[in-house]
Amino acid sequence: VTTRIPVRGDRPYDVLIGRGLAKHLPELIGSAARTAVLFAPPLLEQAAAVARELPEPLMMEVPDAEAGKTVEVAARCWDALGAAGFTRTDAVVGVGGGAVTDLAGFVAASWLRGVRWVPVSTSLLGMVDAAVGGKTGVNVAAGKNLVGAFHAPAGVLCDLDMLDTLPPDDLVAGLAEVVKCGFIADPVILDLLSSHRENLRELIERAIKVKAEVVGQDLRESGLREILNYGHTLAGRLSPDVARRHRSGLERLGLPVSYDADAFPELLAAMQVDKKTRGATLRFVVLDGLGQPGILTGPAPELLEQAYAEVAA
Ligand SMILES: NC(=O)c1ccc[n+]([C@@H]2O[C@H](COP(=O)([O-])OP(=O)(O)OC[C@H]3O[C@@H](n4cnc5c(N)ncnc54)[C@H](O)[C@@H]3O)[C@@H](O)[C@H]2O)c1
Repeated sequence: VTTRIPVRGDRPYDVLIGRGLAKHLPELIGSAARTAVLFAPPLLEQAAAVARELPEPLMMEVPDAEAGKTVEVAARCWDALGAAGFTRTDAVVGVGGGAVTDLAGFVAASWLRGVRWVPVSTSLLGMVDAAVGGKTGVNVAAGKNLVGAFHAPAGVLCDLDMLDTLPPDDLVAGLAEVVKCGFIADPVILDLLSSHRENLRELIERAIKVKAEVVGQDLRESGLREILNYGHTLAGRLSPDVARRHRSGLERLGLPVSYDADAFPELLAAMQVDKKTRGATLRFVVLDGLGQPGILTGPAPELLEQAYAEVAA
């Protein structure tokens, strides 16, 4: 069975979760006569299978992972779309992890100021995070994800078959975002994580529901959506009990729970250009309790150092 999770907004769409989902592509790309299929080399076979469902696919191989998320690669894609005479009614499909779907979405957002697109997410992080919510973009010299656009997809495919080939480290990286959804909104996730292999589908569905709910209420990150950044830099204010739950939960999944004691200056510099920052004021997503996220604005520098000392190895 295929699960459909709706994402509200000016252009609502569904996230589909199940197996053998490529057959849904024709309905999602609608009247598009041609479709560009962006993929990186590790997903060649999967991209070819996706292309078989599409009219006149134009295969576009891009560099893997962050190497593909650049303005130069986007420009190569624009050139290829131009050479193939892609019009406003044609479509873009991205087959890959978050990096490829971010790039594909950005190419779709910018080509002719926006054409239809569908992410076919192949990593756990892509499914529960990157492909849901309409944020697209590339990295620039000044930092990651600093150039991009909000561009809702026509639909999102989370095909569980894709996860069979996902490297174990990438599975664990995706689980970190699943844990986050547990802490900010759905504590049942935290219980299911104790047998995450058996519960993987339910975990994916629950995490997507958390994200879909948040972005559906706040499409352009003006407020609520910020809570999704929980744990992305420093976060604190927890009772010892909830803090212990973070440590034990993350450790059990094989995720790190401490950082290099010398890395604070580097972290501070990164936080200053982080998307949560407003002007010179640092902002943090914190928890007041399980499922109760809040925002901490401009904390005293000593507090930050103290918080870091708690996680420094
Ligand atoms: N747009 C958003 O809202 C949003 C949210 C979170 C993250 N992101 C972005 O997502 C990216 C991270 O995504 P990611 O963790 O998927 O990394 P990724 O896309 O770099 O993929 C990680 C590696 O796994 C490989 N891979 C992916 N699926 C595979 C599969 N099924 N089988 C074999 N190999 C596979 C990829 O080729 C790559 O080498 C970052 O660029 C991040 O900025 C975007």
